[in-house]
Amino acid sequence: MFARVSATISTERRGAGLSQSSASNRVTTGFDPSQQLASTSYGVRMPGYFDLNNRLALVTGASRGLGLAMAEALAEVGATVILNGRDANTLKTAADRMRDRGLKAETSAFDVTDLRATDAAIQSIVADHHRLDILIANAGTIHRAPLADWTSEAWDEVLATNLKACFFLAQQAAAPMRRQRHGRIIFITSIVCILGRSTVHAYAASKSGLAGLTRSLAAELGEHGITCNAISPGWFETEFTAALLKDDAFVARINSRVPLRRWGKPHDLAGAAIFLASDAASYVTAQQIVVDGGLSATM
Ligand SMILES: NC(=O)c1ccc[n+]([C@@H]2O[C@H](COP(=O)([O-])OP(=O)(O)OC[C@H]3O[C@@H](n4cnc5c(N)ncnc54)[C@H](OP(=O)(O)O)[C@@H]3O)[C@@H](O)[C@H]2O)c1
Repeated sequence: MFARVSATISTERRGAGLSQSSASNRVTTGFDPSQQLASTSYGVRMPGYFDLNNRLALVTGASRGLGLAMAEALAEVGATVILNGRDANTLKTAADRMRDRGLKAETSAFDVTDLRATDAAIQSIVADHHRLDILIANAGTIHRAPLADWTSEAWDEVLATNLKACFFLAQQAAAPMRRQRHGRIIFITSIVCILGRSTVHAYAASKSGLAGLTRSLAAELGEHGITCNAISPGWFETEFTAALLKDDAFVARINSRVPLRRWGKPHDLAGAAIFLASDAASYVTAQQIVVDGGLSATM
């Protein structure tokens, strides 16, 4: 997979600061094959192309669930991670737990649907750290109702959180990434982009829109060294699905449909998140990685 290596190796990658090589319009590869193994802050020995030391990541919706698991994964391979959610206390607890494990975690509490708060938060992060390398726009919401019961308020809330907020987060994050000539934007979509499911109409529309946005942003930002990809989870055990997890028959139905015969655990997203955030994915953009135990590709 990594046998062919470009002769053009990034000079920005391993130092502490931002790239000084932006005089040329060349997009750096970000992949340094001489970094065979790197020790992370957590003591894990990883191949260098998965190493996220000196990288700063913002993960929205990271107070629990999939966002927290992905944030922990990035931190375990060296990244400094800023956890976002709406409740400062919950975030502090999560960040304290990470720091107790030797991981680098900070917090930034804001509602992603509040565009002014989002702008201010990202500007403050960049002012403090002088960079932003990775955005995982993960915060999401769902509303379930039969078609006849949908209101425009419910529709707007889902679209505002799952689609509009992701777009403006990416807009804000892309500015420092362009200056760095390096960045990773990762959206969290869903297998409802592929498989129809009743009652979740706005959710399906928002996640399908996000899949399109993944591709349009990738097309625009690639020349600036920024990749944009999505992770598409199947059924995962989090608060998001708590009500469904109480329904034994439903749980059993999903288990019987999934080739791996179980629901995903949040840490099952770790590999995809690290991969897309790292130099290992330096030539991967505009893609969705489906992490669903095989559900959406089998009968
Ligand atoms: N679980 C699944 O099976 C599954 C499957 C496919 C896709 N997904 C997607 O994965 C993402 C994470 O889901 P999850 O299962 O981890 O959900 P979760 O356990 O409910 O966590 C949602 C996170 O988002 C935060 N959040 C919600 N609204 C927010 C807002 N407006 N601004 C800032 N933060 C907000 C929540 O924190 P606060 O409430 O404290 O703000 C929490 O940290 C979502 O985009 C979801 O659509 C999940």
